[in-house]
Amino acid sequence: MILPMYIFGQPVLRKQTEDITPDYPGLKELISNMFETLKKAEGVGLAAPQIGLAIRLAVIDLDVISDDNPEFKGFLHAYINPRILEVGEEMCSMEEGCLSIPGIHESVKRPSRIHVKYLDEDMNEHDEWVDGYLARVMQHEFDHLDGKMFVDHLSAFRKQLIKSKLLGMTKGKVNCGYKVKANR
Ligand code: NI
Repeated sequence: MILPMYIFGQPVLRKQTEDITPDYPGLKELISNMFETLKKAEGVGLAAPQIGLAIRLAVIDLDVISDDNPEFKGFLHAYINPRILEVGEEMCSMEEGCLSIPGIHESVKRPSRIHVKYLDEDMNEHDEWVDGYLARVMQHEFDHLDGKMFVDHLSAFRKQLIKSKLLGMTKGKVNCGYKVKANR
């Protein structure tokens, strides 16, 4: 089932989320719906607040970019109660967008490597260092679980430039090809 995407301005996107337990009702189905929603919106990552749930859950689909990046063939993973434990010193900049902020893309500086801990969809615990594109997507998605969005990382100057677009979104001015939940 495709779920509506909550758009910038929806309060749930700014909430601190809560950990879930393995017996969270309908978890498997929820994860499957999130993957379906993500695919339909042609994104690489989706966090639970973006579908209106303030819980610590995100999904990442890098299979969609595997034509150009064969190492990501079949890469579809769910992250339950993820936490970034530490980050490497090296930083890198990359252009980011967000399904909850359609039409805005900006360069964001983040650590290149991160040490993460999470449960996968089968409740197996993982504790690992991640780098490259996956580290980038994880940081973006896990930010969502702390009520943060990529635009928060921009300079005051860049924020000023997109201010009116963001304000429009909070008032329901959204143009994208997928189902949304916005103030209209
Ligand atoms: Ni996002």
